[in-house]
Amino acid sequence: VFANVVRAPEDPILGVTVAYNKDPSPVKLNLGVGAYRTEEGKPLVLNVVRKAEQLLVNDRSRIKEYLPIVGLADFNKLSAKLILGADSPAIRGNLVTTVQCLSGTGSLRVGGEFLAKHYHQRTIYIPNPTWGNHTKIFTLAGLTVKTYRYYDPVTRGLNLQGLLEDLGSAPSGAIVLLHACAHNPTGVDPTLNQWEQIRQLIRSKNLLPFFDSAYQGFASGSLDKDAESVRMFVGDGGECFIAQSYAKNMGLYGERVGALSIVCRNADVASRVESQLKLVIRPMYSSPPIHGASIVAAILKDRNLYHEWTLELKAMADRIITMRKKLFDALSARGTPGDWSHIVKQIGMFTFTGLNTKQVNFMTQQYHIYMTSDGRISMAGLSSRTVPHLADAIHAAVTT
Ligand code: LMR
Repeated sequence: VFANVVRAPEDPILGVTVAYNKDPSPVKLNLGVGAYRTEEGKPLVLNVVRKAEQLLVNDRSRIKEYLPIVGLADFNKLSAKLILGADSPAIRGNLVTTVQCLSGTGSLRVGGEFLAKHYHQRTIYIPNPTWGNHTKIFTLAGLTVKTYRYYDPVTRGLNLQGLLEDLGSAPSGAIVLLHACAHNPTGVDPTLNQWEQIRQLIRSKNLLPFFDSAYQGFASGSLDKDAESVRMFVGDGGECFIAQSYAKNMGLYGERVGALSIVCRNADVASRVESQLKLVIRPMYSSPPIHGASIVAAILKDRNLYHEWTLELKAMADRIITMRKKLFDALSARGTPGDWSHIVKQIGMFTFTGLNTKQVNFMTQQYHIYMTSDGRISMAGLSSRTVPHLADAIHAAVTT
């Protein structure tokens, strides 16, 4: 009965790892998926995560019962505090409902499903370009996806004019997806001043902001600074959706731990919204898993563990910044044609190199370097040892 099923293509990002795994070359390098690697090229489990896990294991009172549909209460409270700030009036006024979800993807999907069911506007505007999964998540949730201009390939910076024009002509009430910081894939974020212009436009047109916060702490190394865009929107008293992921900033990729927060106009609305979120979640996966959320809660509620986390997070962010500098220097030393200053200007996990698909394919075939076909490279997958190899490959790709 399934004889007519056609083979689906691999995922544009996760499929890069599939191809990489099949390559027997000893010099192969995976710069596709955004996952942190150490200087030795190894995945990293943070020390603070190991400590928190130990605490959990030693606590004999811990059980494995189902969590409530909305997840672990402590985790939800602490997650809202992390993104909105400890002294957030929205939290104090009980305007925020937070539900634990399956990392960033799950949080976006639950938010999308809720909007498709309960919001009068079904159109969501996402930046062009954006993380490849956004279109699929929101389309399958039942929303109509449109794009707004974001990146200018000529300046390799933000196309603020295009962004304001496109959102300015969006229908009133439309949903707008915004990357809270470290825009994926471009590494280009608005300045605070530009955020303010975007906020004013969004509020004046009654658009609904939906933040994807997958890199808090990874852009600048500071958790508060990387939350400034979100806090600016929540500070004005308007509604806002926020999807948080702990995949990158706590290295909890495979634990699938994240949260969806919805900031409402008053506490009564917030509690009714929560009751409806439960109806979205229950038939989807009943309730979220307990382990990852317990790790996060243990770290966020303990002063010492929290402090230790901020140091480890900063160390990861700093290593990425060092890799940017090293790659830029290596290309300069080779006299590689073109302006490569965007490598050091862009922030977060990725560099949007400007290399085209043909050049990417060349680098994969000749140098066994794996990256997404849009020319995005994960700086977190690079190390001092592998920078020369990547620089050689880029140099060859642009000169042959
Ligand atoms: C990425 O963009 O590489 C990450 O967000 C991982 C993913 O799920 O795509």
